[in-house]
Amino acid sequence: MKTNVIASTSPDLKKNDLILVAGAGGFIGGSLVRRFHEQGFTNIRAVDKKPLPQWYQRVPGTEVLCMDLSENENAIRAVEGAVEVYNLAADMGGMGFIERFRVECLRSILINTHLLEAAYRAGTQRYFFSSSACAYNTTLQTDPNVVALKESDAYPAMAERGYGWEKLVSEMFCEEYYAERGMKTAIARFHNVYGPNGTWYGGREKAPAAISRKVIEAIDSGSGAIEIWGDGSQTRSFMYIDDCTFGIDQITHCEDLIATPINLGSAELVSINQLVSMVEDIAGVKLERHYKLDAPKGVAGRNSDNTFIKEVLDWEPSTTLRAGMEKTYNWIKSQYDDRKAGKRVVTEAPVALPG
Ligand code: NAD
Ligand code: GDD
Repeated sequence: MKTNVIASTSPDLKKNDLILVAGAGGFIGGSLVRRFHEQGFTNIRAVDKKPLPQWYQRVPGTEVLCMDLSENENAIRAVEGAVEVYNLAADMGGMGFIERFRVECLRSILINTHLLEAAYRAGTQRYFFSSSACAYNTTLQTDPNVVALKESDAYPAMAERGYGWEKLVSEMFCEEYYAERGMKTAIARFHNVYGPNGTWYGGREKAPAAISRKVIEAIDSGSGAIEIWGDGSQTRSFMYIDDCTFGIDQITHCEDLIATPINLGSAELVSINQLVSMVEDIAGVKLERHYKLDAPKGVAGRNSDNTFIKEVLDWEPSTTLRAGMEKTYNWIKSQYDDRKAGKRVVTEAPVALPG
């Protein structure tokens, strides 16, 4: 099996070809820009609606545009001259966000719809869409002892309300742009991605970052306790960010995967209780657990079936959760300490109810 080293992108892509990353101020988009920069690409356009101080990473030599890509004219401007387009822009977050803000999640369909059409008209050669495991049929995810989800399990469709349906319909757009118009699209269904330079507080954070922050807070405050959403028996697999950006690159440039949704996730299944124990171990602490049973829980269990990706790419995400969580915990701890010391850290606007 291939090792997870920096591989070259498309052999056809020249180092000065324009690459557009939408959602570049966010976690995965920012890491993808860094990856392309480190590979020697010199013409990267990074776009996000957030103001620059809220971007997790700002990569030197990158063209930066702050604009709302759900507006058609902005989408047209963003893709001007782009040889490849990567759509990582969405109004999203962990369970606390997607269960409360379904309208915002659904409205992300405007981003992909405009960006894809604009890219097609601009003659973009390859278009990547970041889908989600939330596109899968939820009736297959009612037991923590899961059968891992394979690509065909999205249909018959019963996606996660709001967010999952947006992903499923946007996938379909990408599939039809290839079927009807011949545009090369790529679609990856990410399973919960974590790592440094992502959301760790404010309401959008996912379990790995939230648990890390809560453990740090418990140590700092001396409370000796942690609040866990649900009863902790829920299961998930978590993919480290470097595996995610490597996988995006591979999937986008694989001719056998054009317009074909594919899982991009780890197959290392853990319960949330096991995740908490792992973080406690990394932090060197044991906390009293308080379970908040009415908190957002999402599905009871979810894992990635990696049969297809191994077959096509001879690779699967393989960073162990322990190794990835050590890096993530240490990064969040440094952010927490910096913020406490009054130093500047990336601050995302906390989520607030619309209205
Ligand atoms: P993120 O929230 O860190 O990044 C998304 C970025 O998109 C944000 O910076 C946001 O400001 C930007 N954005 C939102 N609306 C926009 C608009 N109208 N115009 C321009 N920019 C806009 O999230 P992420 O974790 O980096 O996720 C990236 C993509 O991957 C998203 O499509 C997400 O749905 C998908 N995904 C992520 C995960 C995960 O676990 N992180 C799992 C499944 C799918
Ligand atoms: N966020 C969060 N915060 N989750 C917690 C917490 C906490 O403090 N404590 C326990 N959990 C539990 C949640 O209740 C849920 O059952 C589980 O941890 C995982 O929650 P998240 O990480 O928030 O989300 P998810 O795995 O259900 O969904 C995420 O992954 C999808 C792809 O697999 C989301 O990020 C989706 O947006 C994404 O598409």
